[in-house]
Amino acid sequence: MAKKERLDKVLSNMGYGSRKDVKGYIKQGLVTVDGEVVKSNSVKVDPYEAEIIIDGNTVEYREYIYLMMNKPDGVVSSTDDPRDTTVIDLIEEGYRIFEPFPIGRLDKDTEGLLIISNDGKLAHNLLSPKKHVEKTYYVEVDGRVGENDINTMSEGVIIDGDYKTMPAKLEILESNNISKVYLTIKEGKFHQVKRMFEAVDKSVIYLKRIAMGNLELDEDLNLGEYRELEEFEIELLKGMDV
Ligand code: URA
Repeated sequence: MAKKERLDKVLSNMGYGSRKDVKGYIKQGLVTVDGEVVKSNSVKVDPYEAEIIIDGNTVEYREYIYLMMNKPDGVVSSTDDPRDTTVIDLIEEGYRIFEPFPIGRLDKDTEGLLIISNDGKLAHNLLSPKKHVEKTYYVEVDGRVGENDINTMSEGVIIDGDYKTMPAKLEILESNNISKVYLTIKEGKFHQVKRMFEAVDKSVIYLKRIAMGNLELDEDLNLGEYRELEEFEIELLKGMDV
């Protein structure tokens, strides 16, 4: 059984207003718990079990939210920023009340799969350097990517002067003056993909994350759009914390 919580706290956590607002609604008799009007704020309820109705709306309580965003270029992967639009600015207030944060960072100019959640344990597991969660990127590269690069990447390359990356999987889709590839890496160092290509004398001109482990970006999401993860997708993410 879940922990019992004060009714005013539950309602305010679910976005029905400040603690002061919801105390007012409770006083006015607008809130019922299991069919009974409750007039005390301090009454404790199990928010998962009790049927709580506020002004005719049934409260569907949950602790965590899990969103998948197709992050657009020009938006930063943080919760707030003095200058730039953040990924959190792009989501509705109804989700923002859960105080979500991006799990991991994509550069401002990188697009693609970003998980946004308030589940700190999941974030810790997915981001822990020990877990080696695979991240796959679609990359457009200035320069001709060849077999030699596949071999070099598969051994790991030196970035930062003396750090050798873990082996990465490079798959060439098109090799030309501008090449198109997939790169799968198991780490998340700052600007890692860009610096790995710099290490083989090429530069990234477009970068998009398309998968984290077995979780793939939903191609129906346009840039800047997001949706809740399906239950099986949450399980996929949780299954990565091995
Ligand atoms: N590697 C990069 O260089 N940038 C990103 O945003 C993600 C991975």
